[in-house]
Amino acid sequence: MTGAAGLALHVYRDGASASLPLVLLHGFPLDHRMWDDVAPMLAGDGPVLAPDLPGVGASPTAEECGVALGRGPEPALETAADAVAATLHAHGVHRAVIAGLSMGGYVALALLERHPDLVAGLALLDTRSASDDEQVVSRRLQIVSTVMLEHSLDAVAGMSTTLLGATNQVTRPELVGRLGEWIADQEPAAIAWNQLAMATRPDRTEMLRGFTGPALVMVGEEDVTAPFAAARQMADVLGDVELVVVPQAGHLTAIENAASVASGLNRLMARCAAVGD
Ligand code: MLT
Repeated sequence: MTGAAGLALHVYRDGASASLPLVLLHGFPLDHRMWDDVAPMLAGDGPVLAPDLPGVGASPTAEECGVALGRGPEPALETAADAVAATLHAHGVHRAVIAGLSMGGYVALALLERHPDLVAGLALLDTRSASDDEQVVSRRLQIVSTVMLEHSLDAVAGMSTTLLGATNQVTRPELVGRLGEWIADQEPAAIAWNQLAMATRPDRTEMLRGFTGPALVMVGEEDVTAPFAAARQMADVLGDVELVVVPQAGHLTAIENAASVASGLNRLMARCAAVGD
């Protein structure tokens, strides 16, 4: 992918070039800022990098990314995965630990399938390897048509509440405000593109079975979007995996309990270092 179409890459820590980088992939409908609380708690001295996925934050539109990659403008998480890989390569990163939350997890799985040599370790947070059922697909299509018709973000504004766990919806209203601000910064066209990309993603459970490196699977105890059963399914097909349930957190563990997520990632980085990657 050429320069102008590379993803915006937020560098939380430049890091020592000899150490394995950690790449953080954000969820929907958010951008790299969802990792702001986790990043300062990460141990080690390696680079910590967080791209804005196609169409999000300071990145080019998703259609521009697809065209620059020679894939075309159609919504596809494979485009997001290729854009992440191209952006990392352009920054001299050819092997890294990849952590993805929810949509970021779907992109991490597409990256593993398409660019396996990049992935030294894998963290899958509040996500699933299975594809969507009909009900979820039809809800996504409804959101796409509303967003495109109204050219507004109203259809996803409520996610500032519903993505949080039931406990934090009540006890930490400031999180709703923070998420609301981040969601309001997104572009309706990118919301539609990413919803369609998620709706058409394949089941990657069997592909995941082939990953033999260190893995972390994390899920909020109160996550209703990608609940424990989805986490269990991924952990069951992984050989070298730690499965962690984060208490009193919903779908956005990285925001609701950043300390737990950082310590899980720190343990994963240590395991990757121990196997010499
Ligand atoms: C996310 O947090 O990225 C979304 O909830 C993912 C999804 O809609 O499946």
